[in-house]
Amino acid sequence: MVDLKRAEYPLSSKYDAGWLLDCDMGPNPLWLLEDLARDLDLQPGMKVLDLGSGKGATSVFLAKEYGVQVWAADLWVDPSDAAANFAAHGVEATALRAEAHTLPFARAFFDAIVCIDAYEYFGTADNYLAYLTAFLKPGGRLGIATPAMTREIRDLGYIPEHIKKLVGWEALAWHTADWWRFHWEITELVEVTSARLQETGWRDWLTWAEAASEHTGTPDGSLEMLHADQGEYLGFALVSARKPG
Ligand SMILES: C[S@@+](CC[C@H](N)C(=O)[O-])C[C@H]1O[C@@H](n2cnc3c(N)ncnc32)[C@H](O)[C@@H]1O
Repeated sequence: MVDLKRAEYPLSSKYDAGWLLDCDMGPNPLWLLEDLARDLDLQPGMKVLDLGSGKGATSVFLAKEYGVQVWAADLWVDPSDAAANFAAHGVEATALRAEAHTLPFARAFFDAIVCIDAYEYFGTADNYLAYLTAFLKPGGRLGIATPAMTREIRDLGYIPEHIKKLVGWEALAWHTADWWRFHWEITELVEVTSARLQETGWRDWLTWAEAASEHTGTPDGSLEMLHADQGEYLGFALVSARKPG
């Protein structure tokens, strides 16, 4: 039986490891969200968009742990998969298929938008922050957890071989926490409240990959990359911001 209980993530530790690993689409989403939420000031009743919500584990967590109303929007996963998870956990959340550039919501609808391990697929373009923050109320919060580098690939001048082997050019969307801070702050569309590389990022990612391998009986695709890395380049960035007003 895989154990995913961690003292530093007490809220996440309440959830069944088997269920979390069945929902697996990327590393340790609840640990990332629990850490990110420390920077977000989520309050009961808030309207929250879980963007790139996958199979909905993070949406269940948002609804149950913070008492917020959740809209779970995802492109690749059938919304009925997330809806089944909501029903199984007694959570009232809305699951929908949506593409991150054509979101079907009214302007200024959300109190907060969170995005766990998905922003890197669509959020690095210069104009995306302006598009997304239009859906936030004044004073609303945006928080992302995204795979990160300790050094910019542009500064290195190359993609480290062990990273290139697994993700190829897509690693270009993995940035340092400081890159994200500058990329958002310079727009003056938001005030960046926190941009940090998780101290435990690489270790947590490896722990999850090992647990996922044990759960499925097949080595997780990222294991080789993470072992080669040893935390030299890889981790997760948690970036939070507030829309002025
Ligand atoms: C690595 S998975 C993470 C899922 C979930 N947040 C989690 O952590 O378990 C990335 C998710 O991003 C979503 N995604 C990728 N591109 C997207 C886009 N253009 N619009 C909406 N969602 C997108 C995918 O559907 C996928 O579920």
